[in-house]
Amino acid sequence: MSAVPIRLAERAPSAPRTAPADMPTSGPLVDRYGRVHRDLRVSLTDRCSLRCTYCMPEQGNEWLARQSILTLDEIERVARIAASRGISTFRLTGGEPLLRRDIVAVTERLGRLETPDGPVTIAMTTNGIGLDRVLPALIEAGLGRLNISIDTIRRERFHDLTRRDRLDDVFAGIRAAAASPLRPLKLNAVAMRGVNDDELVDLVQFAIDNDAQMRFIEQMPLDAGHTWDRSQMVTRDEILEKLSARWSLEPIQGRGGAPAETWRLDGTDRTVGVIASVTAPFCGACDRLRLTADGQLRNCLFSNREFDLVPLLRGSGSDDEIEQLLRGCIWKKLPGHAINDPGFLQPDRGMNAIGG
Ligand code: 5AD
Ligand code: SF4
Repeated sequence: MSAVPIRLAERAPSAPRTAPADMPTSGPLVDRYGRVHRDLRVSLTDRCSLRCTYCMPEQGNEWLARQSILTLDEIERVARIAASRGISTFRLTGGEPLLRRDIVAVTERLGRLETPDGPVTIAMTTNGIGLDRVLPALIEAGLGRLNISIDTIRRERFHDLTRRDRLDDVFAGIRAAAASPLRPLKLNAVAMRGVNDDELVDLVQFAIDNDAQMRFIEQMPLDAGHTWDRSQMVTRDEILEKLSARWSLEPIQGRGGAPAETWRLDGTDRTVGVIASVTAPFCGACDRLRLTADGQLRNCLFSNREFDLVPLLRGSGSDDEIEQLLRGCIWKKLPGHAINDPGFLQPDRGMNAIGG
């Protein structure tokens, strides 16, 4: 595969000189549409132990320069300011967050933060590789929730999809998570036509066997290779139709701001989730903000604008200036992602460089 240069979006000047007149400069982190932000996704690295075809090209990916990756102290500083303004969940992502050597220290330092209303929750999205070895230390450090990505449980398919022969390592990670006290445990799969859409029932059963909830994600146009094709996307309705052949599905109400809709299986307490980002966007309830591994704030996965924290973090920026950059970024958030609009432009970064 040929190299795909990642052209980063034009970066905004570090701190807005003058805040928009109607933007609150204190209180909770709110956008123009009244969405209060509570969740910060922190990408710890753009590197990964897998090469999922929908996420990265096999070769030629341009990695972030090591010196541009935020340090533990820099991440903690941003997170502390965010927590003091009501961000209560920090989700550690990547790339693969477990590739970060100081992952336990990151978990521990962020886990100690407090919001005005109490302690924060630390969640992680991982591909599970290496999790079995580090999970006890992560739990000890304060990890509260875990999502593990697994798109297929078939060996050859896993190899085709991730270009790595690591399914046993992923299984070991999932077994360790199942044996741990972390609940709810969630397994995520991107549903893909002709790739894994014939094993959705098997994946749900696999999750049940591991005391976890399976969640299917509609594929979004986020791959670094820009190969997304709407016709390849398996929709929520198709997913439900396939699962209905095996279980009766009863919708669970009260989703709140969560991306996943959930259904009860055969009237039991077993559930399945679907994240219908494309056919049923949930932007209206979005409370999420993202920090890339190289210190760029993004108000949406699909945003084409980034807010650069680096000049503040590595210059002499004050905590207040960092807070105002967080506020400015959130204030600029659009009402929705517009994937379904004809003029939609895919973001320049791939998912591995944005953070899931
Ligand atoms: N569409 C939907 N989900 C994606 N993920 C990665 N790329 C995409 C995409 N294009 C998922 C991963 C993982 C989480 C971080 O995001 O499978 O579960
Ligand atoms: Fe790695 Fe996740 Fe991208 Fe797969 S989707 S290559 S596991 S970052």
